[in-house]
Amino acid sequence: MSFAALWESLLPIGRDGLSGGYRRFSWTPEDVACRAWFTRAAAERGLRVLTDRNGNLWAWWDPPGLAPGATGAPGVPGARAVVTGSHLDSVPDGGPFDGPLGIVSAFAAVDLLRERGCLPVRPLGIVAFSEEEGARFGVACLGSRLLTGAIDPAVARALPDAAGTSLAEAMAAAGHDPGDIGPDDDLLRAVGAYVELHIEQGRALADLDAAVGIGEQIWPHGRWRLDFTGRPDHAGTATLADRRDPMLPFATAVLAARQAAASHGALATVGKVTAEPGAVNAVSARVSAWLDARGPDEQVLQAVVGQVLAAAREAAAGHGVELAAEPESVTPAVEFDPGLRETVASSLAAQEIPAPVLPTGAGHDAGVLAARLPTAMLFVRNPTGVSHSPAEHAEPADCAAGVRALATVLEDLACR
Ligand code: GLV
Ligand code: MN
Ligand code: MN
Repeated sequence: MSFAALWESLLPIGRDGLSGGYRRFSWTPEDVACRAWFTRAAAERGLRVLTDRNGNLWAWWDPPGLAPGATGAPGVPGARAVVTGSHLDSVPDGGPFDGPLGIVSAFAAVDLLRERGCLPVRPLGIVAFSEEEGARFGVACLGSRLLTGAIDPAVARALPDAAGTSLAEAMAAAGHDPGDIGPDDDLLRAVGAYVELHIEQGRALADLDAAVGIGEQIWPHGRWRLDFTGRPDHAGTATLADRRDPMLPFATAVLAARQAAASHGALATVGKVTAEPGAVNAVSARVSAWLDARGPDEQVLQAVVGQVLAAAREAAAGHGVELAAEPESVTPAVEFDPGLRETVASSLAAQEIPAPVLPTGAGHDAGVLAARLPTAMLFVRNPTGVSHSPAEHAEPADCAAGVRALATVLEDLACR
């Protein structure tokens, strides 16, 4: 199987020498290198590569004798494509598996299908969605949101990164025309099913002693940006009573997030914060913080976020600080298509591959696409459950089990 060689060839791209984590942010040179890697892997397999209008990369295995359609999407009347894939971008200092495991497994599954002598009777696609993590432009699953029309293209074009570069500028600098981003119904109509393989971001499979699992649902989740604006002042002379220190209501918000999550059986995290101007010996002018909140249902999620924002507002008012709070991206609860899930489960059961069904709190492009077409997910065991971290891990034997499971599912969906 080709998994190990493909995996090794991707590993050096975007790895930080000090942390050992990955910094593969969309439309940066590292992302361009990942795209080149994808294009090479596809070319080595004779797959047809195209970048869609939104910067998502596709590799197509067309059924023999059938030509692509007008948009470059598969043009097989009545034979809607089966697509697998994931993403190549990372969170800051992310692990190697979150995203890439799905893409490497997809290419390896194509190899395995060919070894088995399977030929697709409908187009089989591999996709790498752009900016899934939202690490550069703030909106998670940006590529699939644009494709499905879940975000206004004009809003997306203007999204700034931390240096003030807009998505449109970053795309253009990387050689992609941002003028034409937005929903692509022709491409979506051509796809009949999307199956995403992903490392598990939790320990459920380890506890169940299973190498692979099937996704059931995704918790509703989102990101909120909180800007606390106070008055910069001298740390050695401004009296405590005179200060308007934005760091104090920020601290209240962090503690409120923990408390609200604990009391609602939810999750809330403040993983990113900036303080301006960032002087050790000064009261900050502004503190910007990002709240990530997730809950078992929408009501709980709203309750958690409401509680955090109320605590932050009250503390801000008490310290003479202005607070502006805005959602950056919010994803509703997703239940994966029951019919496709049943098909995936039966394919695996027929090959005696045990695969428990699991919910997850992590977001995925499969969740965004679920609004438009049947989607399913396969998870591969992560012994520690740690993810979004250089410590993220999957054993080679489990990766191989994932490839076999994916190939089995793709064979049933695309080759019969
Ligand atoms: C994606 O990994 C997310 O859940 O944030
Ligand atoms: Mn992730
Ligand atoms: Mn991911």
